[in-house]
Amino acid sequence: MVKVAVIGAGVSGMVAAKELQQEGHNVIVFEKNNRVGGTWIYTSKSDSDPLSIDPTRETVHSSVYLSLRTNLPRHIMGFLDYPLSKRESGDPRTFPGHEEVLRFLEEFADEFGIHELTRFETEVVKVERKGGKDWVVESRGGDSVSREVFEAVVVCSGHYVEPRLAVVPGIENFGGFQMHSHNYRVPHSFKDQVVILIGLGTSSFDISRDIARLAKEVHVATRPKPDLKGRKLENVRNICFHTLIKCVYEDGLVAFEDGFSIYADAIIHCTGYKYHIPFLETNGTVTIEDNRVGPLYKHVFPPSLAPCLSFIGLTFKEITFSVIELQAKWIARVLSGKVLLPDEEEMMASIKDFYQSMEENGLSKRQTHSLRPLQGDYKHWLVEQIGLPPLEDWRDNMLMECLKNSIEMNEMFRDEWDDNYWDAIIQSGSAS
Ligand SMILES: Cc1cc2nc3c(=O)[nH]c(=O)nc-3n(C[C@H](O)[C@H](O)[C@H](O)COP(=O)(O)OP(=O)(O)OC[C@H]3O[C@@H](n4cnc5c(N)ncnc54)[C@H](O)[C@@H]3O)c2cc1C
Ligand SMILES: *[C@@H]1O[C@H](CO)[C@@H](O)[C@H](O)[C@H]1NC(C)=O
Repeated sequence: MVKVAVIGAGVSGMVAAKELQQEGHNVIVFEKNNRVGGTWIYTSKSDSDPLSIDPTRETVHSSVYLSLRTNLPRHIMGFLDYPLSKRESGDPRTFPGHEEVLRFLEEFADEFGIHELTRFETEVVKVERKGGKDWVVESRGGDSVSREVFEAVVVCSGHYVEPRLAVVPGIENFGGFQMHSHNYRVPHSFKDQVVILIGLGTSSFDISRDIARLAKEVHVATRPKPDLKGRKLENVRNICFHTLIKCVYEDGLVAFEDGFSIYADAIIHCTGYKYHIPFLETNGTVTIEDNRVGPLYKHVFPPSLAPCLSFIGLTFKEITFSVIELQAKWIARVLSGKVLLPDEEEMMASIKDFYQSMEENGLSKRQTHSLRPLQGDYKHWLVEQIGLPPLEDWRDNMLMECLKNSIEMNEMFRDEWDDNYWDAIIQSGSAS
């Protein structure tokens, strides 16, 4: 039995707590908010600085906007051990709204006694190693600061909190309104405006459509992605796609590299986030460089501090909840000695090989924790480590359908496929 501190009670922290407890460990969860759910706790509030630059700003953890629906069908949104099934008074849709996900997470917390393990309104301000062995967790709750010793720490603090902004000549003098998608909630203030979105990821996809219902025009600035080569971006309704922005002028004129220019009222940066773990002190053993948290063996363990320090939920472009659940099971079993890690040198060698294959494939550091295009077999690898039976094929088939749609930017994908469509995918997967 190991005494473990879990930092955060979002999806990662809750599942970590469940798995660690089931493995017989002594768990305490630290959560700065007053409830479980992390980014799924929608609030109309957002950072007091809409660009999230001011270091003294009041911050809000969640990045969820009011209209948000899941980007995966409910069949693969839940956990392997605890699915997100339809229920009577719930949201009946295959891609439910965010409220349904939060309710589901609250039920999960009730079912597995997570509230009892959690210290709410307690923010971890420092995690450091003492005497080359134990970890000291310093936390602040109300006015009091406390320090407590743990044998292991699992970092589950989320990574969609610290915005990354677009670098564009002249943008700092733009006279209109600017914000980052982290602070976007509702479209109302953009009524009849000309709005520019920078970036073309999930949030830009959703927010452009949300705003287009009220705005005069929406223009999306995007770097042509390899995925999109040869594919013409169809302009839909009042949404137009362009290349990157060349320059922004004080009077509100925005000039794109493709020669198009327009006077804009607002610019929304949908340019993603930075990994940010301000409380962790490792003397430079674990660093964050250009969005690579490392070195980490399989995105979880820093070799020289394994297994006492671990990270959950850093990866993306996968079936998020399943990956998080498998990482949590792996950590819980490694800590109890049921599953063995390779030695430090072997783990470092594995990381070096991985970094090298990224380079050979022309991938930048920023893509380290992306499970596509490399590492598509990551969750299957975890399943093997833990000693679970292989995952059914239909799960990957569904993920592929969703990734394909986000590349094709099929606006209607959440609604146009009915239950029979997804049932057919399940059938095809179990037959093979
Ligand atoms: C806009 C948006 C839409 C998304 N849509 C989907 C989707 O449709 N499907 C999907 O599968 N995934 C989606 N995701 C991914 C989402 O991040 C994961 O589903 C999941 O919520 C990640 O959980 P987490 O626990 O790792 O992080 P979080 O949910 O961010 O939780 C981290 C928790 O740690 C706490 N915390 C942080 N620092 C401290 C500290 N120092 N001390 C104490 N507590 C702390 C926070 O308060 C928070 O409760 C979306 C993400 C975003 C931002
Ligand atoms: C960092 O250095 C301090 C002082 O030498 C030491 O006590 C601590 O254990 C080190 N931290 C880690 C993570 O090794």
